[in-house]
Amino acid sequence: MRARPSGFLKAFGPGKVILLGEHAVVYGSTALAVPLRLGVTAFGTPSPKCSFDVPRAISGDTRARLLRAFQEAADAVGRPSVRVSLQSTLPMSMGLGSSAAVAVAVASVLLQASSGRSPSTGRVRALAGGMEVVFHGTPSGVDHACSALGLPIRFRRLAAGRTPLVRAVRLRRPLELLVAIAGQRRATRDTVSALRQRQARWPLRYRRLFQEVGRVAEEGVKAAEAGDLEALGDAMNVNHGLLAALGVSSPALDGMAGFLREAGALGAKLTGAGGDGGAVVGLFPDAGPAHKRLLRAGVSCFVSRVEASG
Ligand code: PMV
Repeated sequence: MRARPSGFLKAFGPGKVILLGEHAVVYGSTALAVPLRLGVTAFGTPSPKCSFDVPRAISGDTRARLLRAFQEAADAVGRPSVRVSLQSTLPMSMGLGSSAAVAVAVASVLLQASSGRSPSTGRVRALAGGMEVVFHGTPSGVDHACSALGLPIRFRRLAAGRTPLVRAVRLRRPLELLVAIAGQRRATRDTVSALRQRQARWPLRYRRLFQEVGRVAEEGVKAAEAGDLEALGDAMNVNHGLLAALGVSSPALDGMAGFLREAGALGAKLTGAGGDGGAVVGLFPDAGPAHKRLLRAGVSCFVSRVEASG
């Protein structure tokens, strides 16, 4: 997040992949998330009034929510004299944290414009968190925490009103990830709310599943810190099975996870909200051959490497 004193402002919010723990994280279980190279850049130019150019490709309900989120964030920082626009390299609404990346980039530009200096990560997270509530209703906070910090994180939500536990995860070895899109999906808030209804009806069964997801995520964090990629991959496979048990996978997502494993992944799972489509992530020793096969088959996909920490 860099400020340009000339009045031209720019900030980047990376997308993310949840390697372990989505959905259960909403109910207080641990999640492991890592940032992507791809993301959203927000630009700010001086303007008589505080305004937002919503990209033309975004329409309908998503457009209305994006505008409302911007207005609320702008009001919260005193409507600075800036016109904000966006550029994205991230597939939108696919489970890769696009809304959080937008929120982090926009929040950072608004804060720079209102204070004249680079904002702290904490202030960006707080402002972006309000925008995520407009997008999703009840976000766990893992997406915008990972995007604002730009680091692999272990995340755990605490009781309402308490600050979530966020810790940087020091990777012993780099992670080579292949992310593949398994078709369109419905909005995160719809998948999260359908799961909320099931868990409200059968709370004990769903609590057991959430707890098991949390345990697998804790084991995966330890494996990532120890550089044991086989153990991390196995945790991802088991997590995919638990996500299917929670009712958030689909034949397209199961098929893509199976394809990635067959193509050499140490582990593969749906990532993000899932539902009827969205993204699948595979952890590879070398993602090159599988990447080429998917591209030849016309699948939208990319490789993202997360470097080891020092
Ligand atoms: O699909 P995405 O990128 O919106 O990620 C959602 C992650 C969930 O765990 C399903 C929801 C949340 O708020 O953490």
